[in-house]
Amino acid sequence: MASTRFLCLLKSRAAGSCKALFRTGLCVSLKRHVSSSPSGLQSCMSAWVLDQYGTNEVLRFTEDHPVPVINSASEVMIKVHAASLNPLDLSMRGGYGAKMLKLRRDPMSVMNDGSEFPLVLGRDVSGVVVDCGSEVTHFAPGDEVWAAVPPWKQGSLAEFVTLTEYEVSLKPKILSHTEAASIPYVANTALSALVNAGGLCRDSSSNKRVLIAGGSGGVGTFSIQLLKAWGAHVTVTCSQNAEGLVRGLGADEVVDYTAEDAAEQLEMMEKFDVILDNVGGETEEWATHLLKTWSGAKYVTLVSPLLLSTDSMGLLDGTVHAGFTLHNKAIQNIVSGGVFYRWGFFAPDGPALDEVSKLVDAGKILPVVEAQFPFTQVPQAFQKLEEGHARGKTVVRVAEEDDRQAEELVQNSPEGTAESEPGVQESAKQS
Ligand SMILES: NC(=O)c1ccc[n+]([C@@H]2O[C@H](COP(=O)([O-])OP(=O)(O)OC[C@H]3O[C@@H](n4cnc5c(N)ncnc54)[C@H](OP(=O)(O)O)[C@@H]3O)[C@@H](O)[C@H]2O)c1
Repeated sequence: MASTRFLCLLKSRAAGSCKALFRTGLCVSLKRHVSSSPSGLQSCMSAWVLDQYGTNEVLRFTEDHPVPVINSASEVMIKVHAASLNPLDLSMRGGYGAKMLKLRRDPMSVMNDGSEFPLVLGRDVSGVVVDCGSEVTHFAPGDEVWAAVPPWKQGSLAEFVTLTEYEVSLKPKILSHTEAASIPYVANTALSALVNAGGLCRDSSSNKRVLIAGGSGGVGTFSIQLLKAWGAHVTVTCSQNAEGLVRGLGADEVVDYTAEDAAEQLEMMEKFDVILDNVGGETEEWATHLLKTWSGAKYVTLVSPLLLSTDSMGLLDGTVHAGFTLHNKAIQNIVSGGVFYRWGFFAPDGPALDEVSKLVDAGKILPVVEAQFPFTQVPQAFQKLEEGHARGKTVVRVAEEDDRQAEELVQNSPEGTAESEPGVQESAKQS
């Protein structure tokens, strides 16, 4: 992916040299060196922060959170227009991954007792670049961008977020910020899992049979569309009432996992080349038997015990324990059926989002926004996520201008606070 982006960037630069020159000129006046915050901006911003781990009560709104500074020459600062929530936000709110993420944020925290609080959650951002480090080459103030915020960085449930330019990508023009914020984290996760762990790519998927366990949530609804754009045959497990959604997104075959004969239905099918498991737990026990044997088939699960192990056993013991678990399962699967057993992980990757952008522009990937909330109602958005049964993504509109539109929507809507986006899902179903 990274090399493709490089080529793409070179191509787009050649094609748009006039624009690039203009941009360079603009950058000269607006680019900053390190440790700066944009002139004309307040030093404090609104954000939802945690001061401790716990349930929804620990979410605190403040207008006094420090605006993040550009600490390295390759960083860009983004004014957040919309963010979205992922299951990880719920888990992190409760302290999931705290030890590992604290180490990643500050390696010196092993030695001292520095605190990670106040912590800002939110892993997706769609917004506008307001400031750039001196070595940023691909972005300039004013660019509309989207990105996934790594869990070891301060999140997007705030007015501003700072990321390296490698993590950022130009937002597809045809999407609103609200729509765009629903995609980056699940896209980076799905691409990392399917490409790095699953061995799939755009040019090698047309003859592949892929099973997605858990197709109706954030990662699933994105993965279906990506794999169909790549020409794969896609089978999905989901609840019966999500069948219309996943078929609308392109799923070829759908199995209701709550049906009594779900296992038999899957076993009757031709075997699979790749399984993406978005569910974990018991799924792992039966899913690996559905793969083609001795043909390089891969089982990739997004539900690994790594961070849970480090939380409960400490960094060293937890990592070693998780390593042994992975090793044993990998050996067991390779010996019994020549099947590769792998863990998939989110990986921040702006160039990968550039590729997704093209698929969005081509109409091959649609945002699936199930519910959206104004910035004032972040706890309600967490509550929605906590109820489970996601059908796509839950988005938070952070910027005031988006909120104003939202208020108009609410006034015209007979429903309550969580506004669904029927248009998006409708268009997904029609495609
Ligand atoms: N390792 C990583 O870096 C990484 C990154 C992203 C996500 N993840 C993990 O991957 C998982 C999926 O993420 P997501 O964002 O897609 O979650 P999500 O949006 O919450 O979606 C989960 C979906 O699975 C469905 N489901 C629940 N039980 C199921 C079952 N037994 N069989 C089939 N479908 C089932 C749910 O709907 P119903 O309950 O109505 O069926 C829901 O639609 C989560 O556990 C998340 O934590 C890991």
